[in-house]
Amino acid sequence: MYNLPRLATVIAGVAAFASGVHAIQNVTRTGRYLYTADGNRFFIKGIAYQEQGAISTDPNNPFLEPSNFTDPLIDGAACSRDLPFLQQLGVNAIRVYSVNSSLNHDACMSTFSNAGIYTIIDLALPVNGSIDRASPAWTTNLLDLYLNTINVFSKYDNVLAYNVGNEVVIDPTGTGAAAFIKAAARDVKSYLKSISSSALVGYAAIDGDSTWVDPLANYLDCDPSGSNSGDTSIDLFGLNNYEWLQRCGVLQRVRLHYLPPRLWTEVQALFSSPMTDIWSGGLAFSYFPATSSQGQFGIVNISSDGSTVTTGDDFSRLKTQYSEVSPPNSPTLSSAGPNTFSACPQENSTFLASSTLPPTPNDAACSCLESELSCQFTPKTTNTSGIVGTLLDTACSLLGGTGGSCAAISANGTTGTYGSVAFCDPEVKLSFVMSEYYEATGRLATSCDFSGNATVNSGAPSSGATAAVTSCLANPSATAGSSGSSNNKNGAVGLLGNPQAWWGLASRASSASWAVC
Ligand SMILES: *[C@@H]1O[C@H](CO)[C@@H](O)[C@H](O)[C@H]1NC(C)=O
Ligand SMILES: *[C@@H]1O[C@H](CO)[C@@H](O)[C@H](O)[C@H]1NC(C)=O
Ligand SMILES: *[C@@H]1O[C@H](CO)[C@@H](O)[C@H](O)[C@H]1NC(C)=O
Ligand SMILES: *[C@@H]1O[C@H](CO)[C@@H](O)[C@H](O)[C@H]1NC(C)=O
Ligand SMILES: *[C@@H]1O[C@H](CO)[C@@H](O)[C@H](O)[C@H]1NC(C)=O
Ligand SMILES: *[C@@H]1O[C@H](CO)[C@@H](O)[C@H](O)[C@H]1NC(C)=O
Ligand SMILES: *[C@@H]1O[C@H](CO)[C@@H](O)[C@H](O)[C@H]1NC(C)=O
Ligand SMILES: *[C@@H]1O[C@H](CO)[C@@H](O)[C@H](O)[C@H]1NC(C)=O
Ligand SMILES: *[C@@H]1O[C@H](CO)[C@@H](O)[C@H](O)[C@H]1NC(C)=O
Repeated sequence: MYNLPRLATVIAGVAAFASGVHAIQNVTRTGRYLYTADGNRFFIKGIAYQEQGAISTDPNNPFLEPSNFTDPLIDGAACSRDLPFLQQLGVNAIRVYSVNSSLNHDACMSTFSNAGIYTIIDLALPVNGSIDRASPAWTTNLLDLYLNTINVFSKYDNVLAYNVGNEVVIDPTGTGAAAFIKAAARDVKSYLKSISSSALVGYAAIDGDSTWVDPLANYLDCDPSGSNSGDTSIDLFGLNNYEWLQRCGVLQRVRLHYLPPRLWTEVQALFSSPMTDIWSGGLAFSYFPATSSQGQFGIVNISSDGSTVTTGDDFSRLKTQYSEVSPPNSPTLSSAGPNTFSACPQENSTFLASSTLPPTPNDAACSCLESELSCQFTPKTTNTSGIVGTLLDTACSLLGGTGGSCAAISANGTTGTYGSVAFCDPEVKLSFVMSEYYEATGRLATSCDFSGNATVNSGAPSSGATAAVTSCLANPSATAGSSGSSNNKNGAVGLLGNPQAWWGLASRASSASWAVC
């Protein structure tokens, strides 16, 4: 019962006792708010739960993004070890930044479900498993990664939401990437609908100037079709925030403590009106120790043998603050308002995302294409993420020298133009460009080598790479080489959930507060 806001505690307790079961309730969205199945308003009172991966100190990685990760939901003993501390904190949700879909999560998920703790699962992985802000695309490999994770987690009853991205856009010049985030939300939402999952779809944004963060939030929520369907709209907008600020009303911005001691005094405001008119709670950063450019975080230490948890003063203070929140159980479900989606924000100099979204990646079309291309990327290493970018640069440059171009593999979220091969994974794109070059040079054997990274496909039709694209897009499963679609993403999408629920997520320092006025 600790997992519910006070106002809901008695009702939930009676229901659980009367039925003899303790199933965690589904959380859905109505209007801009979240509700549990019993009709009470739901607030996320959570904490980030993942040990930090290896952080590179690369100057090209100023945001201290990890290069690997430890899945925190595969070690049942560790989850059981941590549960009493999460219960002391009174949290009802944990956020996990990356999981490995090939591992077993049953023990941890059931431990947390039985304790009434929801999970917010980010679908992206470090390195090549996320939308690349420098060269954004929404491709088959990412869609498949995301859907594989959903397939593994959909059997659990305590997945509150899946995040399709974390801080992909970090400044106004990168806002064109929002088109790809929105496409990811569209395809994940459509898939959840197809498997009858009620899990929500979120995005966690870095904070920044309102001239681009406000339109970003509105864009991820908007309906470019004008049909008010919400098919491409996220359900939850999280704001990773290091500061305590309030727009709308008392216009002030106060830097919070992010080095110990952290007082967590913003918790009371986040869980009270007027913040609760907009926000649905937040998550503190972080349970485990973590370092960021903003400081040191973490409210417990784990002994080196993994057996013992030691809490710090920040733990005690957060526990006290969380124990004192009493958010309003209003508006009631019946008065939560209609599901309305606004028009998408106009592009301007600080917001560059088109409302024309990239198409749903199609595995069958890309497999068909790969099998029909005359010059194929045949790497001698399994670590292809280290060489594909270099080879693409080389191949595009060579192709350009013959008068060709890489437009077919390019995607531009600002102009809303997406080449016909842009949704294929980077390796298929590379094979395509290699083939275009090979053909542009009259199928000269030496044009399909790339220092031993490419091989002529003797079975390819003579009509060429561009013709292969046309035939594979028209009839994706036409060739024997096609492995078929591993996802079922192309159907029409109905409304899932409701618009405009916002969560004041604070995955970094403190609880966030931010208002859409
Ligand atoms: C992450 O990388 C670091 C540094 O290379 C290594 O020590 C650590 O074992 C890796 N962790 C995982 C889970 O692979
Ligand atoms: C997932 O776990 C498997 C088995 O340990 C491992 O081989 C694989 O590399 C992991 N995947 C990721 C993305 O870490
Ligand atoms: C929650 O929703 C799922 C569909 O997403 C449904 O299968 C399940 O029965 C619901 N759980 C409860 C406790 O109502
Ligand atoms: C761009 O539009 C947004 C609203 O969508 C606005 O907040 C922002 O100020 C505009 N930028 C400029 C430079 O006018
Ligand atoms: C964890 O241990 C480090 C190193 O001893 C210490 O500086 C830090 O305060 C500890 N954190 C907590 C939450 O106890
Ligand atoms: C990332 O690259 C590795 C090989 O280096 C590959 O096995 C994996 O599938 C790639 N992941 C994605 C999402 O493309
Ligand atoms: C893959 O290659 C890149 C670039 O060469 C390198 O930085 C990275 O460490 C390699 N990854 C692995 C798992 O070997
Ligand atoms: C997208 O197109 C715009 C307008 O032509 C251009 O300024 C921008 O550099 C392009 N972006 C990418 C990622 O190619
Ligand atoms: C493949 O391409 C990479 C990147 O250009 C290069 O380092 C490597 O030598 C090439 N050949 C082989 C066999 O990997």
